[in-house]
Amino acid sequence: MSLPRPPFTASPVQVWAVEDRAIQVIWGHLPEGPVTLEARGSSGGLNRPIGHVTEHHAGGPGLLELDALPPSTELTLELSWRGGTRTLTTRTDDPTPGDELFRFATISDVHLGAVHWGFLKTMIDRQAHLHDDPYPLRCGRAALAEAAAWGAQLLVIKGDLVQHRNTVNFNQAGLLIDEFPELPMLLIPGNHDVDLVESDMALPLLGQRQLAYTQSAAAEDVPGARVIVANSAIPGAGRGTLETGHEQILDLARCDRPVFVAVHHHFQRYGTMTHWPPGIGKAEADRFFRELHRANPRALVTSGHSHRNRQRLHHGVTFSEVGSTKDWPGVWGGYVVHEGGIRQTVRKTRAMVEWHEYSRGAVFGAWGLWSPGRPGERCFSLNWG
Ligand SMILES: [Fe+2]
Ligand SMILES: [Fe+2]
Repeated sequence: MSLPRPPFTASPVQVWAVEDRAIQVIWGHLPEGPVTLEARGSSGGLNRPIGHVTEHHAGGPGLLELDALPPSTELTLELSWRGGTRTLTTRTDDPTPGDELFRFATISDVHLGAVHWGFLKTMIDRQAHLHDDPYPLRCGRAALAEAAAWGAQLLVIKGDLVQHRNTVNFNQAGLLIDEFPELPMLLIPGNHDVDLVESDMALPLLGQRQLAYTQSAAAEDVPGARVIVANSAIPGAGRGTLETGHEQILDLARCDRPVFVAVHHHFQRYGTMTHWPPGIGKAEADRFFRELHRANPRALVTSGHSHRNRQRLHHGVTFSEVGSTKDWPGVWGGYVVHEGGIRQTVRKTRAMVEWHEYSRGAVFGAWGLWSPGRPGERCFSLNWG
């Protein structure tokens, strides 16, 4: 049984993720009943059916995905449900050069231990009575399960795993990690992981595998790339810095393979802070991107912290911010390493669409417009050339 509709307009039917071979279509409200997504592709003057999925929908928000689509193809998508249809158009992306070598995923800003959301902190989980576990844990679990099913062989947790530095929240983080014993993980702190709630508490080792927060920088070589993670958190502060890891990141980046660099804080584009929360200041960001580009021009840098999706070039380096796994849009990042490039996708978490659609109404509805970013900022491919 679906819950009453939130007191704001439902998010429209839209193409959320579009990749070279897959798409994800989402909606904020459809009635209970079968929902079908059909794709027709235009190439060589032909318009033919190339993908089809039907699922029973419980009512409310939801999503459907199609994969095994042809790349570089104009698509006409028809979403049909009991009493309605909607036609969308999009184009599958060009393929990333070379064979696929490896897949990994990121989550960020799970904020385990959080109990409310919104500008006035009045939004709470409307399905709490149906579950033993709180919604941030369910969001993290769902994202990890869906990323693993997608094929991720490594997970990078990009900080703010917990809402506050305390034993209860870290124990919950350990439980989440323990649910995925086969998935290797890298973990970096965010500002919430090192807040001053229990300021004398050292960051613990999490779960049965005793997963440690990276203190400066660390790297893991995977087929076709080097994954670098670095600590940008300052205990007790919202803003970030790479002071402790800057030189180490550059040393790790000087290698014969492309590098993926994950930090918690976003890099500020301008000298003054243009939006909340504060990130890594512009002067430090400029220096970092310039030196990273010199160290290795084949680099992709990504962050969390801003809880939004964005992408830009910063002194020659592509930098992406990926939204929160906990709240709208409720996503995880997927990365496909190819011989000649890397692809980023940002997928919405299927199992938590009810909460995510509801949490979209934060900041008097502005959050639903601010955080998603444009489609090309969520899903893109870098070719190393
Ligand atoms: Fe956060
Ligand atoms: Fe943060």
